[in-house]
Amino acid sequence: MLDKRNELNAWDRDHFFHPSTHMGMHARGETPTRVIAGAEGVYITDTAGKKSLDAFAGLYCVNVGYGRQKIADAIAEQARNLAYYHAYVGHGTEASITLSKMIIDRAPKGMSRVYFGLSGSDANETNIKLIWYYNNILGRPEKKKIISRWRGYHGSGVMTGSLTGLELFHKAFDLPRAPILHTEAPYFFRRTDRSMNEEQFAQHCADRLEEMILAEGPETVAAFIGEPILGTGGIVPPPKTYWQKIQAVLDKYDVLLVADEVVTGFGRLGTMFGSDHYGMKPDLITIAKGLTSAYAPLSGSIVSDKMWQVLVQGSDQLGAIGHGWTYSAHPICAAAGIANLELVDELGIVENAGSTGAYFRSELAKAVGDHRHVGEVRGDGLMAAIEFVEDKDDRKFFDPAQKIGPQVAAALLERGVIGRAMPQGDILGFAPPLCLTREEADIVVKAAAAAIESVLSNR
Ligand SMILES: Cc1ncc(COP(=O)(O)O)c(C=O)c1O
Repeated sequence: MLDKRNELNAWDRDHFFHPSTHMGMHARGETPTRVIAGAEGVYITDTAGKKSLDAFAGLYCVNVGYGRQKIADAIAEQARNLAYYHAYVGHGTEASITLSKMIIDRAPKGMSRVYFGLSGSDANETNIKLIWYYNNILGRPEKKKIISRWRGYHGSGVMTGSLTGLELFHKAFDLPRAPILHTEAPYFFRRTDRSMNEEQFAQHCADRLEEMILAEGPETVAAFIGEPILGTGGIVPPPKTYWQKIQAVLDKYDVLLVADEVVTGFGRLGTMFGSDHYGMKPDLITIAKGLTSAYAPLSGSIVSDKMWQVLVQGSDQLGAIGHGWTYSAHPICAAAGIANLELVDELGIVENAGSTGAYFRSELAKAVGDHRHVGEVRGDGLMAAIEFVEDKDDRKFFDPAQKIGPQVAAALLERGVIGRAMPQGDILGFAPPLCLTREEADIVVKAAAAAIESVLSNR
């Protein structure tokens, strides 16, 4: 076993190009390789036998928890009966057709079709193409700009990496590309004018958006994209009334709304969709992660009836839509999606995300909220973040070079719990499986308090 582990380690250093990894340090063996061997419930186990409570559900995706036999069986059965057939030119499978119906049954009002992809990134690429196509068919070819937010995360392709508002994803990649623009992040804790209350800050964000639309010319602005709650940008819930105020600006200038629900779709905020939770009225919804709980790669663009009617006019004028992936609506992934959504209902995990989420966040705030280096404990549903500051009263942030966030995440891992050092700021994020129990939440809270104490007690 040890020989095998050493061999895997060497192959990993020499041949595996990991995403989101310091390439040089990893290849030189300066950062660890962790080979995950198995998982059950909310725990993962590596090949060295170390077990960790995964309080980030992989990459906020394993919503029903690990080791669900029902999904494994559905995948195996589909693979045996029909591993693949494409979805082009009107083809489907029982699995892909059934899953599209299940999604629309759960989606916010006014949504009517699902285009399937494989990742959140490719679903957002589809969304951009559909928006451009839509405006071309409506005879307004100049209405093409897409407004995103700083700190938004929408993927790491060429267009979706451009939508993403995090420097790490732009640097040396020549991104962002036109016609993508970024407006202010709805990040209340980091607002410049600290005299503003939440509603005033929400109004300020809506005003900035309106100014941008007017400066660019409303006839050139096609869409606005946002996650209901900022995820990778720091797990930041919107300030009160934010989405109502943003929606009013979008409606005024006939700008479409894309709700990127890759993280929030299928229960994470205690409602089936984040759009329902915050009263957003999207024209397109991006889904991925929670659709299959990551048992198989599957994403989707849910299209509103309003957009669908125009897309149909498009093919009546131009012929079949020139957009498709070989693996779109892959039957094995669709079978995983059906079994997963059935489990979501059977286990009642949407309700659990709401109730256990509220418990978890309140216990976390009680345990660490008063720490002199904790600036804020925030979140919604089963998403939570702790933001560290050097000085609480002045809201002075640590020098990023000190890597406080990664240090706390490492100290947490030593205590058997996985949280995520969010990429921009000293922020420790949590997004556990939605089946988390209160006892498991207590374990996370206790480990987080001890990890924070160990890293920050002498600063
Ligand atoms: C909100 C959001 N959109 C899109 C994506 C991209 O999804 P993927 O990594 O599957 O391409 C992510 C990934 O974390 C995400 O959080």
